[in-house]
Amino acid sequence: MTQSMRDSILMIEENSKKYIDQHIEVNRLFSLVDSQLEHFYNFQNKHVGKVRDIFILNDYVIIVTTDRQSAFNRIITSIPFKGQVLNMTSKWWFDATKHLVPNHLISCPHPNVTIAKKCKIFPIEFIMRGYLTGSTDTSIWTHYKNGERIYCGHTLPDGLIKNCKLESNLLTPTTKDDHDVPISKDEIISKGIMSEKDFQICSQYAHKLFEFGVEESAKKGLILVDTKYEFGKDKFGNILLVDEIQTPDSTRFWIKNSYQDRFSKNLEPENIDKDFFRKWFLNICDPYNDAIIPHPPPEIINELSRKYIILYEIITGKNFDFSISSNSDSIKSALKDFLRKNNINPLQIV
Ligand SMILES: Nc1ncnc2c1ncn2[C@@H]1O[C@H](COP(=O)(O)OP(=O)(O)OP(=O)(O)O)[C@@H](O)[C@H]1O
Ligand SMILES: [Mg+2]
Repeated sequence: MTQSMRDSILMIEENSKKYIDQHIEVNRLFSLVDSQLEHFYNFQNKHVGKVRDIFILNDYVIIVTTDRQSAFNRIITSIPFKGQVLNMTSKWWFDATKHLVPNHLISCPHPNVTIAKKCKIFPIEFIMRGYLTGSTDTSIWTHYKNGERIYCGHTLPDGLIKNCKLESNLLTPTTKDDHDVPISKDEIISKGIMSEKDFQICSQYAHKLFEFGVEESAKKGLILVDTKYEFGKDKFGNILLVDEIQTPDSTRFWIKNSYQDRFSKNLEPENIDKDFFRKWFLNICDPYNDAIIPHPPPEIINELSRKYIILYEIITGKNFDFSISSNSDSIKSALKDFLRKNNINPLQIV
């Protein structure tokens, strides 16, 4: 990364402190925890994920990305503007990659909302990795450190060091269950989870998206370390990229210009992520087992919100738009306009 890129990341961080804090302070009390759209329309179904509320409407899905923050397999709190950051970051990547891989996006009538083509989702997470890293039980580094040399069907050489660049980008799928388990291409096909043809297409798509993401992130001074994609089939049988793409939640980013130096000194790479947030809990409680865990203080919540916003600004090169609020009423009214303009008529309740 050139000095000017480093400067521009610092500048975004510096500027953000000045103007982001006041918005966060005001909005902390109004984070979007539950979209409540079911009180507005007779949707066919509501699915509540960890972060998103999904409503089915004929051939569409209405995906509301909320501000819910999950970690340690539980919902911890809500982070102002996070839903908008995730949704608008995905929109940016969906638009930037649609010439490479078809995706589900139809429109974002509100910064928290995506209207998408309803798909049948393959029960596999397509994880792409450029580096030997990670800390969870299922991560490639944990397996390697424990002596395993075959990971998701790939053979890894001896002598690799944590955080080193892999010889080539690897697709390391996991199942999409409560506890995601690494799985190889052969198992996916032999267990009948996906056909060979479908897997082949998704695998090519995942590689293309990752290569594009790596290049684009490098221009912004970031290393795209690893990420996960989901694919599904629309009603015509087309395979589409769905869910989210290269958001701060689904992706690990490192700072490019300090990577080599720190790697050679055996230091962890610099990143802009939520490690500090996890550490805050790990220092004062056992968040995996305690029934009740403390609520983080405002400064911790603000800091995480700021980090999400900074990543949005670096990736998209745009200033974050604070003007549209994330409350349920503003979402309802944007959705109503969209549905009316597009002659989509769900049974309206209110
Ligand atoms: N186009 C689509 N059609 C149908 N379902 C979709 C589509 N895009 C995304 N989804 C689904 O919407 C859900 C997103 O919600 P969220 O990210 O909160 O889930 P989650 O708790 O992370 O669970 P998951 O592990 O299933 O992603 C996912 O289950 C995803 O598979
Ligand atoms: Mg998800």
